[in-house]
Amino acid sequence: GCRTVILISGSGSNLQSFIDRLHPDQANIVAVISNRADAFGLQRAARADIATAILSHRDFPDRVSYDQALAELIDSYQPELVILAGFMRILTPGFVARYEGRLLNIHPSLLPKYTGLHTHQRALEAGDSEHGATVHFVTEELDGGPAIMQSHVPVLPDDSVEALAERVRQTEHSLYPLAASLYIKGRLRLIDGRACLDGAPLAPSGL
Ligand code: GAR
Repeated sequence: GCRTVILISGSGSNLQSFIDRLHPDQANIVAVISNRADAFGLQRAARADIATAILSHRDFPDRVSYDQALAELIDSYQPELVILAGFMRILTPGFVARYEGRLLNIHPSLLPKYTGLHTHQRALEAGDSEHGATVHFVTEELDGGPAIMQSHVPVLPDDSVEALAERVRQTEHSLYPLAASLYIKGRLRLIDGRACLDGAPLAPSGL
């Protein structure tokens, strides 16, 4: 399968969806890397007999040196695809350029709305009637890369941040493996800065 490295910082429920939904003949998850030693996703990986590594950002003086070490660690696994699954770090331009076209992220909003943090709270405060998640190719612009696919959920009356976040996260677990499988089949590519399916550019908001 496609040699895949997954980067996490926390619970790893999206990592779990890759483990559960993609056969190793599709996505061969060769390593899970976390910047936090206490990320529960490391236990999920170990349970699935996937190699794990911890690279703490606290051990590095700045972003550039951390990202350099991270890239060397990633490259030691020779991945064809790098998946950001709740990896809560802003990446340097050099890192992003190195993996251009084979670096995917999922963000919990209907991009271009709500880049950055606290997306669910911001959607609630804005009175939005719908919210969701976006899988996108990673480019230098924070949460700004070309969209591949979006999931949509309703915002319900009296929703809490937690309830809305959980509703969105449930959709992520089918969305992200699906987008990854299209990449693995060679159907999804970044061409001239645009996300393309079977060679044709997707709409700005993706599928
Ligand atoms: C997911 O909801 C993902 O969209 C979000 O973090 C969560 C990770 O959950 N990512 C970001 O906010 C990226 N800026 P998980 O650890 O259970 O997969």
